[in-house]
Amino acid sequence: MKAFAVLSALAFAARVSAFPAYGSLAGLSQRDLDLIIPTLQIREPQAPPGPLGDNSTKLVNDAAHPWQPLQPGDIRGPCPGLNTLASHGYLPRNGVASPAQIITAVQEGFNMENGLAVFVTYAAHLVDGNLITDLLSIGGKSDLTGPDPPAPATVGGLNTHAVFEGDASMTRGDAFFGNNHDLNTTLWNQFVDFSNRFGAGNYNLTVAAELRHQRIQESIATNPNFSFVSPRYFTAFAESVFPISFFVDGRKNDSQLDLAAASSFFLNSSFPPDFFRPDGPHGADGIDQVFAPYPIQPGGNVGEINSYTFDPTSADFSTFCLLYENFVNHTIGGLYPEPTGALRQALNTNLEFFYQGIKDDGCTQLFPYGKD
Ligand code: HEM
Ligand SMILES: *[C@@H]1O[C@H](CO)[C@@H](O)[C@H](O)[C@H]1NC(C)=O
Ligand SMILES: *[C@@H]1O[C@H](CO)[C@@H](O)[C@H](O)[C@H]1NC(C)=O
Ligand SMILES: *[C@@H]1O[C@H](CO)[C@@H](O)[C@H](O)[C@H]1NC(C)=O
Ligand SMILES: *[C@@H]1O[C@H](CO)[C@@H](O)[C@H](O)[C@H]1NC(C)=O
Ligand SMILES: *[C@@H]1O[C@H](CO)[C@@H](O)[C@H](O)[C@H]1NC(C)=O
Ligand SMILES: *[C@@H]1O[C@H](CO)[C@@H](O)[C@H](O)[C@H]1NC(C)=O
Ligand SMILES: *[C@@H]1O[C@H](CO)[C@@H](O)[C@H](O)[C@H]1NC(C)=O
Repeated sequence: MKAFAVLSALAFAARVSAFPAYGSLAGLSQRDLDLIIPTLQIREPQAPPGPLGDNSTKLVNDAAHPWQPLQPGDIRGPCPGLNTLASHGYLPRNGVASPAQIITAVQEGFNMENGLAVFVTYAAHLVDGNLITDLLSIGGKSDLTGPDPPAPATVGGLNTHAVFEGDASMTRGDAFFGNNHDLNTTLWNQFVDFSNRFGAGNYNLTVAAELRHQRIQESIATNPNFSFVSPRYFTAFAESVFPISFFVDGRKNDSQLDLAAASSFFLNSSFPPDFFRPDGPHGADGIDQVFAPYPIQPGGNVGEINSYTFDPTSADFSTFCLLYENFVNHTIGGLYPEPTGALRQALNTNLEFFYQGIKDDGCTQLFPYGKD
């Protein structure tokens, strides 16, 4: 009896201490939070880095940042930009980073504009990262030991569906079909085909509009669970232009991404040889030119294919602040209904950093967990 009690206490301790430092606490019960949080090392988050001092173009595939192949245990995920930064050592090569490291890396490696980098990074961290340890994983990991909660068999990181990652990606399948994070060769071939047909061998804004439309139509026609509401509604269009904003060499600077360069990023998580980052800070430039040819309202299928229905509760391009409000009130509020102690403090700190990314957009700041 006594021996059994000791053994089960040990097994229990092993399970709890197996909770990975980068595992998200989102959606866990109060009981699990009380078990897990004491095993984590609280790390005070660093304030978001500011804009680059020198935002000019320069060689970023340099001797200090060589591409290296994956080592066992390294994590990659659905974002070709972050995957590339990790494989060149602008991010920790294992794919686990703090928000501050991510902001520094996307600015240094790709010249992403500061406000956008801050907004996107804290959005992702709040829903997919560990707010106590200040670590976020750029993808998922499924080979963790520990049969039961609170040590999960899988950590989602950026692969986690429906809170940031979403449907109708250009090169990744919908979560409904089982793999929302690895590059899908069929979809990649379509990216190439569209670039040949509409861009004479380049991915440009004309191609982006056609391919975005195509992927939405495919999800409507094949995925009964297709969801295309905020925030995915915004990120889908933004990610369609990111290859043009960030993957075109800064010396070329003509908004035409050739397929050799595209292949290097998407297939190899590698900068092309001799790659210069874009010239000056960039964001979702040209997103209106992707939206305008095939405007669509936010919505989704309602349990069967070809049932796309408008969702009036979702933000759209005319109600940007509603994106922020819904994300804070409903997405984050749903994942963390009643946080206390260190977790509540970490939520407040990260919500403040998140808001800093859009502080010039005239949205009213929200304080769902109080102001201190
Ligand atoms: C700033 C932090 C960033 C975060 C947290 C982030 C996160 C993500 C996530 C979660 C996705 C998957 C969306 C989905 O499939 O549903 C994604 C897609 C994408 N990201 Fe990022 N990203 C970041 C920065 C960047 C940068 C700097 C680039 C370009 C250099 C980039 C390029 C892309 C592209 C092109 C896709 C679309 C892939 C596709 O649809 O096939 N991202 N990102
Ligand atoms: C980019 O750098 C130039 C030159 O230092 C500066 O004038 C400009 O304000 C910077 N742009 C941004 C958005 O930081
Ligand atoms: C189905 O849709 C719901 C609502 O968007 C989402 O929470 C869920 O994760 C989806 N499941 C799959 C497998 O896509
Ligand atoms: C890739 O996507 C295609 C088209 O959506 C799908 O038929 C196929 O099953 C996917 N392949 C994998 C390995 O997921
Ligand atoms: C994309 O490339 C095609 C083929 O060269 C060209 O006709 C089209 O104008 C380009 N679109 C943009 C926005 O550069
Ligand atoms: C790149 O293009 C932008 C916008 O067209 C322009 O402002 C900038 O000066 C160009 N940079 C170079 C290095 O040509
Ligand atoms: C991808 O990497 C492999 C192995 O290093 C290399 O042979 C191939 O040329 C690369 N492809 C691209 C498109 O960069
Ligand atoms: C979010 O919550 C705030 C404070 O309770 C409220 O004023 C606002 O109307 C809510 N917005 C949405 C979209 O739920």
